[in-house]
Amino acid sequence: MERQAAKDRIDELRAELVEYNRLYYVENAPVISDFEFDALMRELETLEKEWPEFRSDDSPTRRVGSDLDLQAGQRSGFVQREHRFPMLSLGNTYSIAEIEDFAARAEKELDGRRFSYCCELKFDGTAICLSYRNGHLTQALTRGDGQLGDDVTANVCRIANVPAHLKGDFPEDFEIRGEILMPYEAFDALNEERLAQEDVPFANPRNAASGSLKLLNPEEVAHRGLWCTLYHLPAESVPFESHSQALDAAASWGLPVSDKRRICHSISDIREYIDYWDVQRKFLPYATDGIVIKINELDCQRALGATSKSPRWAVAFKFKAEQACTRLLSIDYQVGRTGAVTPVANLDPVQLSGTVVKRATLNNEDQMSLLDIHIGDYVYVEKGGEIIPKISSVDLSLRGADVVKPHFPTHCPDCGTALVKNEDEARWFCPNNDGCPMQIKGRMLHFVSRKAMDILAGESTIEQFYDLGLARTPSDMYCLTQYQLVSLEGWQEKSAARFLDSLDESRKVPFERVLFALGIRYVGQTTARTVARHFGDIDSLMAANVEQLLEVEDVGAVIANSIYDFLHDPVQIAEIERLRAQGLIFSTIVGENRISDALSGKTIVVSGNFSISRERMKEIIAAHGGKAGSSVSTRTSFLLAGTKPGPEKIRKCGELGIPVLGEEAFFALLPQGKVPGQGLQPLEQSPQTFIESTLF
Ligand code: IVH
Repeated sequence: MERQAAKDRIDELRAELVEYNRLYYVENAPVISDFEFDALMRELETLEKEWPEFRSDDSPTRRVGSDLDLQAGQRSGFVQREHRFPMLSLGNTYSIAEIEDFAARAEKELDGRRFSYCCELKFDGTAICLSYRNGHLTQALTRGDGQLGDDVTANVCRIANVPAHLKGDFPEDFEIRGEILMPYEAFDALNEERLAQEDVPFANPRNAASGSLKLLNPEEVAHRGLWCTLYHLPAESVPFESHSQALDAAASWGLPVSDKRRICHSISDIREYIDYWDVQRKFLPYATDGIVIKINELDCQRALGATSKSPRWAVAFKFKAEQACTRLLSIDYQVGRTGAVTPVANLDPVQLSGTVVKRATLNNEDQMSLLDIHIGDYVYVEKGGEIIPKISSVDLSLRGADVVKPHFPTHCPDCGTALVKNEDEARWFCPNNDGCPMQIKGRMLHFVSRKAMDILAGESTIEQFYDLGLARTPSDMYCLTQYQLVSLEGWQEKSAARFLDSLDESRKVPFERVLFALGIRYVGQTTARTVARHFGDIDSLMAANVEQLLEVEDVGAVIANSIYDFLHDPVQIAEIERLRAQGLIFSTIVGENRISDALSGKTIVVSGNFSISRERMKEIIAAHGGKAGSSVSTRTSFLLAGTKPGPEKIRKCGELGIPVLGEEAFFALLPQGKVPGQGLQPLEQSPQTFIESTLF
């Protein structure tokens, strides 16, 4: 290669690798496979070796990929702190021959010293560095750029298996490093929730883990099901002879350390370990992408040292992600129930990890341009987790002359309305929510789905109802009769009866699922549940303003506004009224749980501590026909105050002249002995006496 050509290629590779690193570590949305990334990195390393005059300390070959989001000087919302010891990456390979080279180099450098290898799984998550002082977790930093990391302590404190306090004989002050993972089960649940909300699913558990670790709300992190495994104590901070001794000790202090490691003495031991885990890893509940081979003795590690990017005493052997190569036949643009337009690839059917893949998501227009995908291209498909296959890359070397560049539609493929896109969103939307057939049918399908109302109707039934003008909203379905149904093509007495029975059954579906079924944007199953429990019934929910909605756990501005807008849309209000008239459940307290109407029409704000939990108190209010309000306003009937009520609430009551009742006074309002169901038996201990006058 000529000098100038080499220089150009080096510049090009560096720019590409920097961008791929950013997409991987910052955006959590890689556009090429690890294998391709590693191949580009190799090419750059080779060129830099051949042309030492073009070497640069800035090159991606010498720096670890950074997870810090510092674009245009913008900070990511986390404080950045310096690592006590640089946090390095690992050299990696896909070939056993290179593992042999690694072992041979170590033997030569260590010059006859006896040493062993510690083989471990390579966990596919995001790196973390924990600091413990006097046995307490004091800090958690991401790898960042290796020198500076984002301080994510508050988030890591919410990960269930990270101990806040240690036991046993731990050092006074030390660091331990490892990986934050999202087990497959949590990943699938999260993606299912995101799909239900028509949100873009995470491509794989690694992206989901690192995206979740960088959430700004630790409460939300707590619900993501993250998990931690620790695998490295920087030798400088602990007094051990070997790496495996250090990990054994860490485990004895209560830290989560994997028990899958093994001491190996030869290349054949290492090979055996690799072969075993290449098969067995498919049965693990979390993702792994290779194995790590470390020289076990810490004095040998010290002797070997590190480059600016990775230690010389360890290497990763990476498993190739299971991929399949196939041809892209066409792209469908699917309009979901919220109007989001998703490009979906139709593929020449191909086998992948035991299933036949015919379709794969392309997520959005940006993803299509990043891949530079053309119809007729040969593409690689990969499975991120269990559910949705995705296209990871295009094989440009196989591109024929007949390929066609796809054009993202400017108008809705179903109803022809011009598509719109918000500045901060990657997706295009059809704004014709009330008239677009795909959206209407999508909402009906969501309504009948198993996790919502569980009504026996599939895509073709919904299509048939829609085409014949029989049902265009869920409430229309409840008006269908046996007589109407049997006159339809493909329907018999039996199938009609089954459908009507399932409609009838759906009248017993609890409020939280009805709320989910309504299809409010961003309200998945989990959000629907917390919102339903918080407000108790649809009337209280409809009366809530955005501020009150924001008081619900895990509800942020986007969700609060979406709920508010939905419940103030006259079309939706009318539909909710029709569904209510059909007997659907719009309250968490119904039927036999309803005890009296003693509090009917009353909105009661609950504050402070009682002889029973506040949640139970709210259940009692609902069981007697009252509503639990979240903040004091002119609409509040009275404040039910326990010990230590919120001073601001008390002040507001004084200001607005709203009565304040203690626990005893409150129970006196209820019919004698009628304290409701499950865990709500008449109080055993007498309610704490509350002296109202002390409040003022
Ligand atoms: S040791 C100084 N052990 O892989 C090297 N790393 O691709 C310390 N990783 O940055 C790392 N499993 O995030 C080590 N058993 C393991 C690992 C592991 C996963 C990650 C780690 C590292 C990356 C390099």
